[in-house]
Amino acid sequence: MKTPDHKPAANAELLEELAAKYGTPFWIWDAEVLRARIEAVVSTTNATGVQARYAMKASPATRILKEMRSAGVWIDAVSGNEVLRARRAGYAEGNNPPEICLTADVFRDNAMDAVLTEGVLPNVGSPGMVADLEKAGYTGPISLRVNPGFGHGHVNECDTGGPSSKHGVWITEANRVREAAETAGMRVVMLHAHIGSGPQFEELYENLTHLANEFAEIVPTFQDLEGVSLGGGIPHDYRNADADIPVERLREVFESAQKKLSEVAGRELRLEIEPGRFYVAPAACLVTRVTDVKDTQSNAKGEGVRFAMVDAGFVDLVRPAMYGSYHRITLPAAEGREESPVVVAGPLCESGDVFTRDDSEMLQPRELPTPQTGDLMVMHDGGAYGYAMASNYNSVGRAPQLWWELDGTVVPFTRRETIEDILKLEEG
Ligand SMILES: Cc1ncc(COP(=O)(O)O)c(C=O)c1O
Repeated sequence: MKTPDHKPAANAELLEELAAKYGTPFWIWDAEVLRARIEAVVSTTNATGVQARYAMKASPATRILKEMRSAGVWIDAVSGNEVLRARRAGYAEGNNPPEICLTADVFRDNAMDAVLTEGVLPNVGSPGMVADLEKAGYTGPISLRVNPGFGHGHVNECDTGGPSSKHGVWITEANRVREAAETAGMRVVMLHAHIGSGPQFEELYENLTHLANEFAEIVPTFQDLEGVSLGGGIPHDYRNADADIPVERLREVFESAQKKLSEVAGRELRLEIEPGRFYVAPAACLVTRVTDVKDTQSNAKGEGVRFAMVDAGFVDLVRPAMYGSYHRITLPAAEGREESPVVVAGPLCESGDVFTRDDSEMLQPRELPTPQTGDLMVMHDGGAYGYAMASNYNSVGRAPQLWWELDGTVVPFTRRETIEDILKLEEG
């Protein structure tokens, strides 16, 4: 598929209007881009016995969840509060069908309550969690997350499968955990793994096929099984907005996995996937203002660089600081301006508050139209794990999220966080 252009992000006049109204930084979502991505995933699961979920941790706002729900996409939640957010967005309680699945490595806060009172399907990621459920008096169905021994995410820090990954039950232990669950009166109705995709599509096809084959080995002993989840991890190309993404090929991978697993089980199984990033990554941009441009000089310690100081920081978009992730940067009003290498840095009292880093976390000056104080700058593809990972570190309030609709209207769906919001949690 080709992803539509993020139209508001290229509209310098509109962005200035929005900046005047809402201040900077702000997030701008493009409904057309989001719907195109949802449609692309849904078309890969448009086959008998195949179901898509949305890993809502990527962007959990009600506005986004409602788009998913109206497209028939179910939810993968990872906390009790995510379950409650999904419920408020209209997703059904219970597990018949399990519209909400709760994948947890540990039950904390209200996660156990969400299982007991909302009846959502718990996806258990460690053997002790079966004992936790038993202690809580739960005797409903469960899903079992396994670690198949391979896989990784978009960067190596995202260690989703293998000996050094904390997620899931080692695959050879799965039957032992099933027996413990059955002894405690629980049925294992789903087997699950999220191995990540790696950054390339070829690796994704191979990993998913390999995973389906691993599951086929253990499926026959899981007599109560109703479904198998291959997890998420469809990659997004952060460097190339025009990439023609071969997502259509996944339909065949999912269909043949569903058939094969049903065959070895001797009955129809549901095949699930639960991407997060792919649906939302290109749908939101972070818009920030250049507040200054300054240079350091070369000396014995290193080379001088040009800094563009902006009013967004890693409190808004942490991925570059956390993983050295690349986000395209544009200056919509600076087209045709001469380019020069620039380091883009934010307002936080942290030297690591820099958006242009490489994957070994070193500064990586970017060739950009030389920024000037007052320019608006757009950081692209922040819809996944952007606002969702934002914080109010330095007591900087989270930036608002705005929604651009195809008719050109723009409405805020998350307001800017204020000092009152921040102080609300303090007691005494
Ligand atoms: C259990 C689980 N499922 C799905 C996902 C979604 O992964 P992605 O956003 O890369 O598709 C994640 C991400 O961390 C996850 O932990």
